[in-house]
Amino acid sequence: MQLEALLQAFPKVNLHPPVMEIDLSSLGYKQLRLSMRRDDLIHPIVSGNKLLKLIPHLQAQDILVHIVTCGGTHSNHIHSAAYLAARLGIKCTLVIREGEAFETPTLNDCKAWGAEILHVSRSRFRALREQPQLMQQIDPSACIIPEGGAGREAFLLESNVESYDQILVPVGTGTTAQSFVKYEKPVLGFSSFAYLQKDEPKLTIKPLDSPKRFAEYSMSAMKTAKWLLDTHNILLDPLYTAPSLAAFLKQTQDEPAHILMIHTGGLQSWRSYLKRFAIQIDPHFTRQIKDYIEQLDLGRPATA
Ligand SMILES: Cc1ncc(COP(=O)(O)O)c(C=O)c1O
Repeated sequence: MQLEALLQAFPKVNLHPPVMEIDLSSLGYKQLRLSMRRDDLIHPIVSGNKLLKLIPHLQAQDILVHIVTCGGTHSNHIHSAAYLAARLGIKCTLVIREGEAFETPTLNDCKAWGAEILHVSRSRFRALREQPQLMQQIDPSACIIPEGGAGREAFLLESNVESYDQILVPVGTGTTAQSFVKYEKPVLGFSSFAYLQKDEPKLTIKPLDSPKRFAEYSMSAMKTAKWLLDTHNILLDPLYTAPSLAAFLKQTQDEPAHILMIHTGGLQSWRSYLKRFAIQIDPHFTRQIKDYIEQLDLGRPATA
């Protein structure tokens, strides 16, 4: 599929997201400069790195009639894939692990957009995750997208990165961070998957300091997210961008350096995070988040 045809189906896509200066002085930094590329503004739903990771998969497919992918029931990736398929008017099958919560805000949106949900056993899910090409058995003509939109190099936006010393990017599979290496600047990623290593001299991946498990409550991430929302009216997501910025600030000295952080989107995941951690998260902050994401109209009909 041609990129132009894809973008025609998405009049609200902005492939020139703004870069904003983040003033760190209230945190005591005098020399360190931080700018944030607002990839969360690429599109309200297919936001951040989602479209950038999906584009190469779609471009590789001559005839696009069906997307088959897999993921968790809160996953930003399945949410984006289902919306994109609905928008393009093609079929979407989401392979989900048996035993996972079925009525999540993420999955409810996907179902409303017409995605078909296919439950598989844990062992089958593991096999499909490790060998995504096995999903071709579901439909040999489908566009198969591995979990998280991995498997192909992410689409690289045109961006003037000349003045930055380092690019900071949250890491899951590492696909996004890997693509940023092409900017020819050192790339620093933070991941809760401490084992993740990429054989790439310009890319350093550090573990997040807390919590040890993915998608658990992180007080430092919440504090950082609240600080950024209060001071700059930018909402980070709870699983990738907020923990990454928190870890970066904790581990970074006040030195004369200019960092470009990529806001990789994922705001839809707040909906279940707020429910899971309702007791820990301050009610005023919860209200602020709800107001912010309400404006994104995340469950909008695919025709809107
Ligand atoms: C909001 C957000 N940021 C970052 C990532 C990590 O991206 P990658 O898997 O390309 O490392 C993800 C996962 O796709 C995500 O949803």
